[in-house]
Amino acid sequence: MKKYMIFMLIGLMAILSATDMVVNYADGSMDTIPIEQIDQITFEQYEMVTVDGIELQWRTDDEYLYVNVSAPTTGWVAVGFDPINQMEDANIIIGYVDGSGDVFIRDDFGTGSTTHASDESLGGMDDVDQHYGMEDAGTTMLHFRIPLNSGDMYDKVLVPGNNYNVILAYGSADNFTGFHTLATGTNIGL
Ligand code: HEM
Repeated sequence: MKKYMIFMLIGLMAILSATDMVVNYADGSMDTIPIEQIDQITFEQYEMVTVDGIELQWRTDDEYLYVNVSAPTTGWVAVGFDPINQMEDANIIIGYVDGSGDVFIRDDFGTGSTTHASDESLGGMDDVDQHYGMEDAGTTMLHFRIPLNSGDMYDKVLVPGNNYNVILAYGSADNFTGFHTLATGTNIGL
């Protein structure tokens, strides 16, 4: 219910606000979210960890994992769940905010210890939604939601209450393919 109230609030703010942020979805559709309403979404129900300057916030409900991730970069930011070795087999979500403020987020998979590719290019699906992002004073923040169990073989089944290794990285380029400025990791309980 709280979730729906938040999005009703978003709708109201969208009507009142003149400044919209363009969000590009993987299926080619677009949406707009007013920058002002980002402040309306409280993060108090999120768990949080900061590793090497990358801040990860997360929470779950019965169906989804909700994530906010920010890093000191104007390029891409990524988080990967449940790798087996470096990037390998991680359910990676990577995104960036371009010079116009447009947000791009992609559902990827760690195809090897030092490689990743979009789920769609591998024959899977892009399961990231409700995403937005912003870039301010050299920091990029992404928000998104992924299903706990998408059914896609290029995602991981995530179970609330379980612990998972998580990889975190950022790079300086506004793309999905650049090498990282910094790559690190941690372990979190969902
Ligand atoms: C095309 C983009 C990428 C390339 C070419 C790349 C390449 C590499 C290479 C060569 C390594 C091993 C050497 C090193 O540690 O520097 C590595 C390690 C790693 N990468 Fe990537 N990577 C990319 C994207 C990503 C993304 C999107 C993530 C995360 C979510 C990530 C997370 C990591 C992690 C956690 C390690 C292990 C670091 C360590 O063990 O200290 N990488 N990557």
